[in-house]
Amino acid sequence: MITMILMGPPGAGKGTQAKRLVNKYDIPHISTGDMFREAIKERSELGILAKRYIDDGHLVPDDVTNAIVRERLAKDDCQHGYLLDGFPRTIPQAMALEGITKEINRPVQFVINIDADEKELIRRISGRRVCKVCSTPYHIDTMKPKVENVCDVCGGPLIQRADDNEEALRVRLGHYYEQTRPLLDFYKKSGLLHSFDGTQDLNVLLKQIMSLVEENE
Ligand code: AP5
Ligand code: MG
Repeated sequence: MITMILMGPPGAGKGTQAKRLVNKYDIPHISTGDMFREAIKERSELGILAKRYIDDGHLVPDDVTNAIVRERLAKDDCQHGYLLDGFPRTIPQAMALEGITKEINRPVQFVINIDADEKELIRRISGRRVCKVCSTPYHIDTMKPKVENVCDVCGGPLIQRADDNEEALRVRLGHYYEQTRPLLDFYKKSGLLHSFDGTQDLNVLLKQIMSLVEENE
């Protein structure tokens, strides 16, 4: 069983690494951002609520976010592990997660923090395109798909996220520094935190994360 959290500022490469790690370890990829974007596409009640926050770069309220994670982690496919991408990102979310993982008896083993400097985050976010169908991330200069505007994984069309603009990114970074970064200390104290340089080549970084997991499994 492998249970892990991927943390880091917007554009650090959480989604990029998550896609690869869940394939290697055959565990579900639980991205709260992807779940909200799915709900927005479906125009569900959750989607209508989430859109009000996400498009401007604000965090969706904790009670809403905690409830969708609680429901998701209770599903059968999480019995052999899970990878959380972008959750928790506030102290109340981390506390809620402690309760949830106790209930399901599958505590978090690894908190992987991926970091990069702000200039690189801005470069990545401004050039990012994502698959409309499976949300795989690409970059217009440095991580191009094999065929322009077509996802390598599923053949879906590539789009730009509504919150990948300068204004919303500034708001997202602000929330990261104020609400999410303090969580690093929270997980450092519990001995679960492992930090990595997200500006490295993505395959080098993937190998480093996998070595850590395999040495401590
Ligand atoms: P979310 O979807 O989680 O977005 P985010 O945290 O802002 O992170 P990103 O997805 O933008 O970045 P990433 O780290 O995944 O980078 P990626 O791998 O794509 O959340 C969106 C919104 O949903 C939030 O703002 C909030 O409103 C809401 N939300 C979500 N979770 C919530 C929660 N828990 N509570 C409340 N609200 C919540 O890579 C970025 C780019 O860099 C790509 O172009 C990629 O190709 C490139 N790249 C990646 N790695 C490398 C590398 N090693 N070298 C070169 N390029 C690279
Ligand atoms: Mg992401």
